[in-house]
Amino acid sequence: MTHRRTGLWLIGAFGGVGSTVALGLAALRQKLTDCNSLVTALPLFRDCPLDDPSDFVLGGHDIRRTDYVREVQALHERANIFRSDWLKACRLILNEWSSNVRPGFAADSGAAIAALADWGEAAAPKPAADIIAQIQTDLLEFRDRNALEQMAVVHVASTEPAFPLETIHFSLTRLKTAVSGSQSVLPSSSLYAWAALDLGLPYVNFTPCLGASVPALLELALERKAVIAGQDGKTGETLLKSVLAPLFVARNWQVLSWVGHNVIGNRDGMILDHQENKSAKLQTKSKVIAEILGYQPQTPVSIEYCPSLDDWKTAWDLIHFRGFLDVKMSLQFTWQGCDSVLAAPLVLDLARLALLAQGRGEVGILPHLACFFKNPVGVVEHDFFKQFTLLEQYVRDLKNSPAVSN
Ligand SMILES: NC(=O)c1ccc[n+]([C@@H]2O[C@H](COP(=O)([O-])OP(=O)(O)OC[C@H]3O[C@@H](n4cnc5c(N)ncnc54)[C@H](O)[C@@H]3O)[C@@H](O)[C@H]2O)c1
Repeated sequence: MTHRRTGLWLIGAFGGVGSTVALGLAALRQKLTDCNSLVTALPLFRDCPLDDPSDFVLGGHDIRRTDYVREVQALHERANIFRSDWLKACRLILNEWSSNVRPGFAADSGAAIAALADWGEAAAPKPAADIIAQIQTDLLEFRDRNALEQMAVVHVASTEPAFPLETIHFSLTRLKTAVSGSQSVLPSSSLYAWAALDLGLPYVNFTPCLGASVPALLELALERKAVIAGQDGKTGETLLKSVLAPLFVARNWQVLSWVGHNVIGNRDGMILDHQENKSAKLQTKSKVIAEILGYQPQTPVSIEYCPSLDDWKTAWDLIHFRGFLDVKMSLQFTWQGCDSVLAAPLVLDLARLALLAQGRGEVGILPHLACFFKNPVGVVEHDFFKQFTLLEQYVRDLKNSPAVSN
């Protein structure tokens, strides 16, 4: 492992995922826990120059005025997760990292998210150029104050409503002109992405928000030599779909319908209970089955908000399929997972892998990270095993050629 002072900047820092990342990093630093659940801790990555998560310093933006101790304590009490002695042991580090979090921006993130905001002027309309400049000031101040040698930005904020692209989003020159005007042309998630990429920082979008999935922002990443990964972490029902659908292909069973019913009780679920936010999530969840099968069966997906479940999400899926001699059969599964605990290690993996790629001189989209996402940018492959093969191949190539020239 490599030891460098590394900054991890989370957009949506105090959310369930952000707070679990914070507790996880603090617990790793204190040697209270191990790297179980980190993909980058697999033997495959032995001898890769990945950064030690114990060296990470955390900062970020949020639109709610709170702190890590309060958020982690709330998860502990409501969802009955995390050991209380670990919370106590990590308190000092969590307090230090809370002081690195700055008020964020949500002017163009839709009404449901604006209603969460209680810090600074998060939801007040402001020129996009001013927002980008303030985000960059916050990032640079974090880097300098903590004497960081490198940093990555990961978006873990609430799901914004879908944002349709127009011709202006396909040209960086035109988008730059538009952003310096007074009209809103990008959602907040893309302003954060812009700020990070423009500083040449690796950027990962763990959410269904638009973020850097804008052709003009890819141009910016190439210009500034920054790497991009996204979109929407694959942690639960969609992960299982991408693992199970290849089975139906391999056995030549025809899937007639695949019904997915998701129930979730945390703040993410509350935001997704708003139709315009939910439709953005359903878009990233809906592609996987047809892409893997090569045809489109009936694939209804629903997401219900059930507050009593808190951070525990349940998915029930029914797969109805046709076997030999037209005999119809079915498979059902129930998945019960702790939302934040499934996501947090992947955020650490993605930060480590994005920093590794950036350090090697790679630029733009990182296709080998497709297995981490529901809607991988720049990759049409959804079969988990084929996606994982991309990652394995990347690691093998990396061990044979330490750096990329560009
Ligand atoms: N947990 C998982 O398994 C999983 C999987 C895939 C994707 N995601 C996505 O990750 C995101 C975070 O999930 P969560 O459970 O932590 O949600 P959460 O609601 O607990 O946390 C989101 C945080 O983002 C903050 N926020 C909202 N808009 C912001 C903005 N414009 N700027 C800065 N901060 C902002 C909120 O105040 C909140 O603290 C969601 O978009 C979710 O869909 C989660």
